Amino acid sequence: MKWKIDNVKIDNQVVLAPMAGICDSAYRRIIKSMGCGLIETEMVSTRAVMHLNRKTREMLEMTDFERPIAQQIFGSDSESFKTASSYIAENMNPDIIDINMGCPVTKVAVKSGAGSALLKSPEKVEEIIQTVKDSVSIPVTVKIRSGWNKNNAVEIAKIAEKSGASAIAVHPRTRQQRYDIPSDWSIIKDVKDNVSIPVIGNGDIRSCYDAKAMLEITGCDAIMIGRGVLGNPWIIKQCIDYLDYGIKPERIASREKLDMFKRHADMIIGNYEDKVVMHKLRTNAAYYMKNLHGSQEIKKRIFQTTTKEELFDLLENYVKTLKY
Ligand SMILES: Cc1cc2nc3c(=O)[nH]c(=O)nc-3n(C[C@H](O)[C@H](O)[C@H](O)COP(=O)(O)O)c2cc1C
Repeated sequence: MKWKIDNVKIDNQVVLAPMAGICDSAYRRIIKSMGCGLIETEMVSTRAVMHLNRKTREMLEMTDFERPIAQQIFGSDSESFKTASSYIAENMNPDIIDINMGCPVTKVAVKSGAGSALLKSPEKVEEIIQTVKDSVSIPVTVKIRSGWNKNNAVEIAKIAEKSGASAIAVHPRTRQQRYDIPSDWSIIKDVKDNVSIPVIGNGDIRSCYDAKAMLEITGCDAIMIGRGVLGNPWIIKQCIDYLDYGIKPERIASREKLDMFKRHADMIIGNYEDKVVMHKLRTNAAYYMKNLHGSQEIKKRIFQTTTKEELFDLLENYVKTLKY
C-alpha cells in the first residue's frame, strides 16, 4: 500500500531500519533492489558532519537509486543539529532527515547526551526537532526507543508531532531493556492512537507474517525491519509481496544466497579500504549462510579465512554439499 511522509511518496509499507556499520550505500542498493519503500542510512554524528573528514563525507554519499531515502543523524546539541542538517540537506539532498533518539550505546551516543539519552529530556527533544525543522525544507522524522528506563513513548511522540516531525518510528524497548526482552508492540499502538503523523513500527520482524501482524495489531502506517535483513535481503520483497498481493514466500536456495553474498562482497571490495574489507566480508558471509545445514561449523571456518579467494572457495565447496 502506498503512503506518504509529507510530500514524499512511498510505494509500500516496508522500511529499512538504520543500522550503523551495515546500512552503507552498497547494502542499501541491495535492499532497494528488493523494492524497499523507504531506506534509512546508518546514523552519522552531527559533530562529525561539522568537522567533515573524508570518512564522514563518504558515509553521507547516496545514489538516486536509493530514493526515497532518509539520512539519520545523531547528536546532543541544537547548534550541531542545525549545522549538520542544513549541510546535509543542501549538499547530499536526501528526501528526509531522521533524528536518532534511540541509540543505547554509551560510548557512541549516550555519554554525550545523544541517542536514547535525549528521551530523558522532553524539552531538549522539542528544541532539537524544532531546530532541524527550521534548518531544512525537507520532512524531518524521529526514531525513538520507548524511553530511557521507563516508557514515555507517547509523551515524546506528542512532543515530536507538536515540534514539527512528519513521522515517528518506534522501537518499543527502553534503553535499559537493550535487546533483552521481546519488543512490546502495544507501545506502538499507544503511540499510533495518540498522534496523527505516520507511525512506523519496529522490533522483531523476522518474516512477512510478523510484518502483517504488526500492522494489524498496532494500526501503524508502515513497518521497519532491522536485524531481519542481515544476510536476508529477500525478506523485504517477501513482506511487500505478502502485504500487497497475499503472495507467500518461497525458500531461498543456498546457491542464491551465495550469489547474493558475492554481489554484496564485490560492492564492499569497491567501497572500503583493504584493512576493513576482510572483516566485513567474513561478517556478511556468516549472515548469508546462517540457518543453512551445518552453518555453525562453516561459520568457524569463515572467520579463519584471510583472503577473499579463500573465503569464496570455502563457501563454494560448502554450498555444493547442500541439497537445497
Ligand atoms: C548493528 C545494529 C546497528 C544499529 N544502528 C542503528 C542506528 O544507526 N540508528 C538507529 O536508529 N538504530 C540503530 N539500530 C537499531 C535498529 O534500527 C532497530 O531499531 C532495532 O534493531 C530493532 O529492530 P529489529 O528487531 O528489526 O532489529 C541498530 C541495530 C543494530 C542491530
